[in-house]
Amino acid sequence: MKLKDKVALVTGAGQGIGRAIAVLSARQGARVALVERNETSGRETCEQIQAQGGEAFLIALDITRPGAATDAVGQAREAWGRIDILVNNAGFDRPGGIFKIRDEDWDAVLGVHLKAALAFTREVIPGMKERQYGRIVNLSSIYGKSGGKGEIAYATAKAGLIGFTKSVAKEVGRYNIGVNAVLPGLTATPAIATLMAEKFKEQILAQTPLGRMARPEEIAQAVIFLASDEASYITGACLEVSGGWEM
Ligand SMILES: NC(=O)c1ccc[n+]([C@@H]2O[C@H](COP(=O)([O-])OP(=O)(O)OC[C@H]3O[C@@H](n4cnc5c(N)ncnc54)[C@H](O)[C@@H]3O)[C@@H](O)[C@H]2O)c1
Repeated sequence: MKLKDKVALVTGAGQGIGRAIAVLSARQGARVALVERNETSGRETCEQIQAQGGEAFLIALDITRPGAATDAVGQAREAWGRIDILVNNAGFDRPGGIFKIRDEDWDAVLGVHLKAALAFTREVIPGMKERQYGRIVNLSSIYGKSGGKGEIAYATAKAGLIGFTKSVAKEVGRYNIGVNAVLPGLTATPAIATLMAEKFKEQILAQTPLGRMARPEEIAQAVIFLASDEASYITGACLEVSGGWEM
């Protein structure tokens, strides 16, 4: 029970990596606030956790809406008094290179990955500071390190999350708040199944020494590690969980 008695808030918990993080966190003893804009999928994650005897509740909202972070964190605090762990996971991709990407897509991608992460991080830090305890994990991507052809907004946002992670880590380390990032490689989630062309997947897998996609649970295990006390002296780290792609 790596997260026994901890309270966690996970954004984008309705499917894919976010669902795996939420389910595994609950299995490791955490109570989990599930933040998700898709009420149906969010409810499914909630029911899955409760069916396994875990504690969770759904906060159905769009994290990019002004005031969303205040609402979500407020609801979680009202239920359980505090937040020990924040996982900034929710996100999406809008493909396109420098001349193809539309301004509104650029804004949307940077908004969901960076602006929302800032808002949620701002909301949880005062309580963590007061209790001198906190763990924040941000879902970046290998593209944040390598760049991605035709992925200018996404790669820029994910690189931004690396800078964000390290900057916040420097600012809050003295309050015993650890801030780290996980950089997944290609992971078998609904987003990848529905949105990525087969030829791109094949290209990535050809460059991935382990030769397969990650299961969402394999990304979640790294997140749980960084969120747990096993990582008590780790902050500002960027953990690649990529099967060796772009190592
Ligand atoms: N799957 C991969 O190969 C991969 C690789 C590297 C990084 N990542 C990152 O991991 C995270 C999860 O990816 P995934 O593949 O599980 O994605 P996914 O699309 O399968 O799931 C994302 C979840 O976030 C929710 N969400 C999106 N925008 C939201 C918003 N504005 N408000 C509330 N909820 C919102 C979606 O409804 C969905 O349930 C993302 O940050 C993604 O960029 C994924």
